[in-house]
Amino acid sequence: MSKSKPQLEGEVYYPSNEVVEQARLKDWDEMAEKARKDPQAFWAAEAEELEWFKKWDQVLDDSKKPFFKWFVGAKTNIVHNAIDRHLKTYRKNKLALVWESEDGKTERTFSYFLLNREVSRMANIIKAMGVNKGDRVTIYMGRIPEIAFAMLACAKIGAIHSVVFGGFSVDALQGRIDDSQSKLVITCDGAFQNGKIVELKRTVDEAVKRCPSVENVIVVKRVGHEVPMEVSRDHWYHDLCALPIANGKCATEVMDAEDPLYILYTSGSTGRPKAILHTHGGYMVGTYTTLKYVFDINDEDRYWCAADPGWVTGHSYIVYGPMLNGATSFMSEAGPSYPYPNRIWQQVERYGIRILYMAPTAIRGLMRFGEAWPNKHDLSSLRLLGSVGEPINPEAWKWYYRVIGKEKCPIMDTWWQTETGMFMITPTPTVPLKPGSGTRPFFGQEAEVLDEAGKPVADDTEGYLVLKNPWPAMLRTIYGDPDRYVNQYWSKYPGKYLTGDSAKRDRDGYFWIIGRADDVIKVSGHRLGTAEIESALVSHHAVAEAAAIGLPHEVKGQAIHTFVLLRSGFEASPELAEELRQHVATHMGPIARPEDVKFVDKLPKTRSGKIMRRVLKARAQGLPEGDVSTLDE
Ligand code: PRX
Repeated sequence: MSKSKPQLEGEVYYPSNEVVEQARLKDWDEMAEKARKDPQAFWAAEAEELEWFKKWDQVLDDSKKPFFKWFVGAKTNIVHNAIDRHLKTYRKNKLALVWESEDGKTERTFSYFLLNREVSRMANIIKAMGVNKGDRVTIYMGRIPEIAFAMLACAKIGAIHSVVFGGFSVDALQGRIDDSQSKLVITCDGAFQNGKIVELKRTVDEAVKRCPSVENVIVVKRVGHEVPMEVSRDHWYHDLCALPIANGKCATEVMDAEDPLYILYTSGSTGRPKAILHTHGGYMVGTYTTLKYVFDINDEDRYWCAADPGWVTGHSYIVYGPMLNGATSFMSEAGPSYPYPNRIWQQVERYGIRILYMAPTAIRGLMRFGEAWPNKHDLSSLRLLGSVGEPINPEAWKWYYRVIGKEKCPIMDTWWQTETGMFMITPTPTVPLKPGSGTRPFFGQEAEVLDEAGKPVADDTEGYLVLKNPWPAMLRTIYGDPDRYVNQYWSKYPGKYLTGDSAKRDRDGYFWIIGRADDVIKVSGHRLGTAEIESALVSHHAVAEAAAIGLPHEVKGQAIHTFVLLRSGFEASPELAEELRQHVATHMGPIARPEDVKFVDKLPKTRSGKIMRRVLKARAQGLPEGDVSTLDE
């Protein structure tokens, strides 16, 4: 890549001739223009590349906005395209998944042929547990191949999976199982994390006690330590595999394009986490297409999305997107710097990774260890890099570009959300890059930055980021709460999708994400709602009221800071602060542990009693408090 500055403003990185030569899509503008003129034709052409049991009668039905439908009347199953169709081609023997254990001693590889056998076997077992089309299954596992098998097995038989991130604890898990009314939970005896064991099965036991919908629990053996097994409810997966029903042949269920594929809980600005619903048809086309153009996957590539399968990034771009493209994916059980800061670079070298996709928080963490660690390894296999989850600061972008990509790998800074299901603002490999900007909307999409009244703001001015066009992988609703879906995303600016982010657009039409405009905190790329943290705090007997805010943090991006008003009879002390931090971690999971707890004797509130977190945030950073006309202290 050459760094020059003809037409575009600011610091721009242009693609090298080599990048352009290699890229499947050479002319971004031409494709963007075509898709702009007729987004439905663009998506229909992409959908034609996949197999359908029956084609659609209509690409998009927007007659009941915002309840959009895509590929109306079509029949398919995402697993048919992610696995079955590859078995008819040379890809049958191609590696689908390569996995390395945390201790680095075990490597497991699965061709598409083998993947099909594993998924079919698990699908047969799930069916035998009485799970039918449309039933919900909660998956709560570590980073092992079986988490992908479990998701695909559910999809294959038409069950709706609900993956809960393995870092969440009892209350979070229980709330999600209960809300989804799952019949079955699939878990492991435990997961390895930085040499320690995370007690997944014990957490499930606690959670399921209060979830009467759960009839069965399947337990995959991973760590090999003793866990209590409840007779008739809990079943070891390896025992089930020995049964005759657990054979490697299972028909893939014919699904309507609009049938639910999965729900995934994510935090919003208020109340309980929302169950975002995705479907078979549109989500399939969206993840397939975006991964194909943005990470430009070819058969000879080895691709690594270093996210956790428990988040949407793992759903779309570890499991479904890569398999829809017939790619070879790598999955690591270990974190990027365990046991040493070169773990990730050692794996890039060892597995010949060509495309690496990770979060800015991980990049910043690795950057802190210094260049000597990556420089110990041959990283010449890399050809494309990616970033996701939060804004990437230009300093981290440049380090990633120079030290890891050796100034030859374009960085795909992909902006998207659990709700969008697929990349929404992102470059493709030949697009000129500006460090810190995800560049422009993906084909067929238009974004805008609006002021409070819904008027587009001037260039380089901050405002609310909205999306103007429906897209195939869009969430269809909030499972069980369609009103909340309408209110949350479509009511502030009718007809436009409210992202919840604040952003700017520059004169070149490039978007710069500033951060969440609502009460959502992004800690190391994990999405947490202030309301959930506050209710965890208030559930402690010493706490009368609490407020949580996110403040900038060098590695995590944002860290959680809390303010607590004690009940009378309780005294502030460092011990109590520590107890409260632990209390939040126990209730929600270690990722939600606050950075600090400050005891206060009042909280800034509006006259109607709403906590003004904005004021707390400004005060904590020594910034002007802004408009405080509604403040009533
Ligand atoms: O604030 C944006 C931020 O992550 C939010 C979505 O979080 P979640 O649903 O957990 O999905 C994360 C993975 C897709 C967005 O509202 N975000 C995500 N990607 C970026 C980003 N912020 C800036 N740049 C990105 N590339």
